[in-house]
Amino acid sequence: PELQRAKDLLDQMSVTQKLGQMHQVNGAGGVVTEQLAHDVRMGNVGSVINEVDAEVIAQLQSIAVNESPHGIPLLIGRDVIHGFKTVFPLPIGLASTWCDETIERSARLSAIEASAVGINWTFSPMIDVSRDPRWGRIAESFGEDPLLNARMGAAMVRGYQTEDPSQTTAIAACAKHFAAYGASESGRDYNTTNVSEHELRHVYLPPFKAACEAGVLSVMTSFSDLNGVPVSGNEWLLTDVLRHEWRFNGVVVSDWGSVQQLTVHGVAENDKAAAEQAINAGVEIEMVSGTFINHAEALLHSGVITIEKLDAAVLNILAMKIRLGLFEQHYLQGATSPYNSEEHTKEAYEAAVKSCVLLKNNGTSLPIACDQRIALLGPLADDGYEQLGTWVFDGDVSISQTVLDGFRQRRVEVNYLPVFASTRDHDNSRIPLACDAAAAADAVVLCLGEEAILSGEAHCRAELDLPGAQEELIRAVSRTLRGRNVPIILVVLAGRPLALECIEPFVDAILYAWHPGSMAGPAIADLVLGERTPSGKLPVSFVRKVGQIPLYYGQKPTGRPVTHDNYVHMDQFPMRAEQTSLGMAASHIDTHFTPMYPFGYGLSYTQFEYRNLQLSSHEVSATERLDVTVEVVNCGKIDADEVVQLYIRDKVSSVSRPVRELKGYQRISIPAGQSRLVSFSLSRADLGFYNQRSQYVVETGTFTLWIGGDSTCDLSAEFNWISQ
Ligand code: IFM
Repeated sequence: PELQRAKDLLDQMSVTQKLGQMHQVNGAGGVVTEQLAHDVRMGNVGSVINEVDAEVIAQLQSIAVNESPHGIPLLIGRDVIHGFKTVFPLPIGLASTWCDETIERSARLSAIEASAVGINWTFSPMIDVSRDPRWGRIAESFGEDPLLNARMGAAMVRGYQTEDPSQTTAIAACAKHFAAYGASESGRDYNTTNVSEHELRHVYLPPFKAACEAGVLSVMTSFSDLNGVPVSGNEWLLTDVLRHEWRFNGVVVSDWGSVQQLTVHGVAENDKAAAEQAINAGVEIEMVSGTFINHAEALLHSGVITIEKLDAAVLNILAMKIRLGLFEQHYLQGATSPYNSEEHTKEAYEAAVKSCVLLKNNGTSLPIACDQRIALLGPLADDGYEQLGTWVFDGDVSISQTVLDGFRQRRVEVNYLPVFASTRDHDNSRIPLACDAAAAADAVVLCLGEEAILSGEAHCRAELDLPGAQEELIRAVSRTLRGRNVPIILVVLAGRPLALECIEPFVDAILYAWHPGSMAGPAIADLVLGERTPSGKLPVSFVRKVGQIPLYYGQKPTGRPVTHDNYVHMDQFPMRAEQTSLGMAASHIDTHFTPMYPFGYGLSYTQFEYRNLQLSSHEVSATERLDVTVEVVNCGKIDADEVVQLYIRDKVSSVSRPVRELKGYQRISIPAGQSRLVSFSLSRADLGFYNQRSQYVVETGTFTLWIGGDSTCDLSAEFNWISQ
């Protein structure tokens, strides 16, 4: 029905009015300027980005609906990435929850808060598989794995849009950045991406396909080029794959200025040529650069773009507006955002608790009893802004609860010293004072890491250390407490996985909290004090050293895989080596071949045991499903959550397949001393791959399957797949 309604409207529109729908402008910053009002009134604008003032949005919508030629309401877009007023953990933190429901709820509440002021479109989720921690935007991703990105992206889409996007609190989602933006060379933003079709189809495209299947209303093009063709002018990707193969019927929006940047990429001579390429490739809304509105009419007259192409684009845009119920005036709520309620705060707290990953815990360093005197050190322990992380335009810092707040609310005796002005501070003059505080305490909690500005768009790093003098502080505190039974707890707040190898020996426990959002403090305090049990798992492998990048669990076996038996570190070479160049393994000689912490890893205050792995059959044919069951036992004395992970490997196939691939996960709660049966069901769709002819196939042969608490788990079974 929305298509018919859109068609009827389209039939009445002039070319100029159609181009208006394809044009998105930047808001004027909380005012309705004469120019903006004029453009909206004339129907020259179909969408506004970055306007969040409810009154201004209502005024703009009123002009669009009551004064513009066909009364077409505006799309009001905003980057609502991990919360609006209430801030949830960074997406990489949300991914660490391995909990689709938590992610869906965070998106739902964000949509409720944002829609109240009139926002009806968010540029989220970002589902770029990210395997380079130097890349600043890894903060916004769900990590290195296609399945995680696919499931979590779909969960966000459901949360934003709901089953009925026309309901008042629903907003349109946008799957971005299509595609392979996360593969930017050397982790430098906007950089070249060279990704084979094989890798694209196995790694980078599946999350986008899943978002389309989840009904995402829009897709954003990547800034980068893909194998030489910038995505905003890439017809193969935007039309052949997205439209024809996947039958996507939503809207394709460019990234900010990325149409005009086709000229900078060197594939278009001028703005006019850029518009031609982008429109023909399949971009339908141009974000701010204005080449469509300025040149498309002339392009049409010269015959290099067709009216059919424009009509198809405008039809999609109108259909999106109809699906969102905008014509029913849902945008006129003009209310204040309903945040700071118990429900929203509680949800932000729960998400933060689940997102923290315990990476190290010597003996029983954690939890700390609440009658202990804590020396709380570091600039991130009491900074309500930095704990929110990147891409927070609208978050209300006044509702942030810091780690210091968290400990104080729990009446813990805390001696707090920020030590540094920021995480980048090289001034080490206050380190002796910090050591004195540590010496007088029963336990030390160091809140260190990266402040928000060190990750995010265009904030890429070449080093992955703790910046400034933070590592010096850790070593100094460790020296001070040598021989004393005072645990040193490192809480890392950061937007990316850092390389912790150098400082790991100097601390007793590491809690990786990412940027946990508004409720960072209560969540971290409760985890440190044992009120809650850590349950986050890594959505990305942690490297030991930058030189290991890219390092991900789903690597290919290679012809000479490295193992514990054949690995040789250069320190083991004889001082005067006789053979200078022979080797047997795909590894570095100056660092261990394993990650510092593997994908899927995360400790708890209890222990889990996996047993009784059962398969419904060891011979599975094409039409059957394989049911897998395992018993998970909580062997400890506290109730806790575990994330049960299932991996497979296709042992022999016509195309080399990863040594392991995640095929299922479930977060479950198990009371102390009890066990739970956990079941998975696999089908053909989970077992196949794209062969050399890009056909999806499952070849007859043997698979290994593992189940456990991280990607190195060893409880396994084999089964045969029979294609006919
Ligand atoms: O949504 C973002 C995108 O991720 C990066 N460039 C700007 C867009 C709109 O703010």
